[in-house]
Amino acid sequence: MTGKFITFEGGDGAGKSTQIERLAARLSANGRIVTTTREPGGTPTAEAIRQKILSGSVKSLGADAEAILFAAARTDHVDKVIRPALARDEWILCDRFADSTRVYQGVGGGVDEGLLHALERVAIGDTKPDVTFVLDVPAMVGLARVRERLEATGASADRFEGDNLVVLEKRRHAFLDIAAREPDRCVVVDATQTVEQVAAAIWHAVTTKLLDEEAS
Ligand code: TYD
Repeated sequence: MTGKFITFEGGDGAGKSTQIERLAARLSANGRIVTTTREPGGTPTAEAIRQKILSGSVKSLGADAEAILFAAARTDHVDKVIRPALARDEWILCDRFADSTRVYQGVGGGVDEGLLHALERVAIGDTKPDVTFVLDVPAMVGLARVRERLEATGASADRFEGDNLVVLEKRRHAFLDIAAREPDRCVVVDATQTVEQVAAAIWHAVTTKLLDEEAS
C-alpha cells in the first residue's frame, strides 16, 4: 500500500471540513493511517503565517506579497508534514492546497501567472495531489453558509470571506476551469447536495481512483 495525497478545494462555505472528517473516518475504518491538515497552516510556522494573512494585517503589502507568504507557508507544510507522511505510506487529506493560490491570488487577486507558477514549483515540486475534490456551490449558496457560520460562532469575516458575489462567482469558475484542464486529478462534486450525498460521491471516487488501483 502506498501513501495518497488528497486535496479539497472550492469556494468558502462549500463544506470541505465536514467532508474531510467524513472521509478520514471512513479511510481509518478501512485500516489506513490518515492525517488531516489544512492550508494555509499545518505547521506552527505556517499557522503563524495563516494568522497574519487571514487577519488582513498584511493585505497592505499587496497581492504579490500575499501569494509569496502563502507559498512560504506551503513550503514548510509540504517539507515537514506532507512529504514525510507520504514517505511513511500514509494518507494525507488537505483542506485547500495549490489550486487555492491559483484561484484566490491569480484570478481573484490578479497575481501574474508566471510568478504563481514559480512559487508553485518551489513550494510543492513533485508533491502533487493524487486526487483533488472541487466542492462546487453557486456563490450565493456559499455566501449564505459562510454568513450562517459567522453568526453561529460570533466570528468576524476573514480576509477573503468579505468579498462580493462577483468575485465569488469568478473564483467558482476558476476552480471549474482547473478541473476541466486536469480531469485525471480533479473530481467536481455538486456540494449543494446533502452531506450524505456529497460524502457518497467522494467515497465512490476514492474507491475507483485510488483503492481499486491499489488492489490491482
Ligand atoms: P479556509 O479553509 O476557508 O479557512 P476557514 O474554513 O477556517 O475559513 O481558508 C482560508 C482562506 O484563505 C480562504 O478564504 C481561502 C484563502 N486562501 C488563499 O487565498 N490562498 C491560498 O493559497 C489558500 C490555501 C487559502
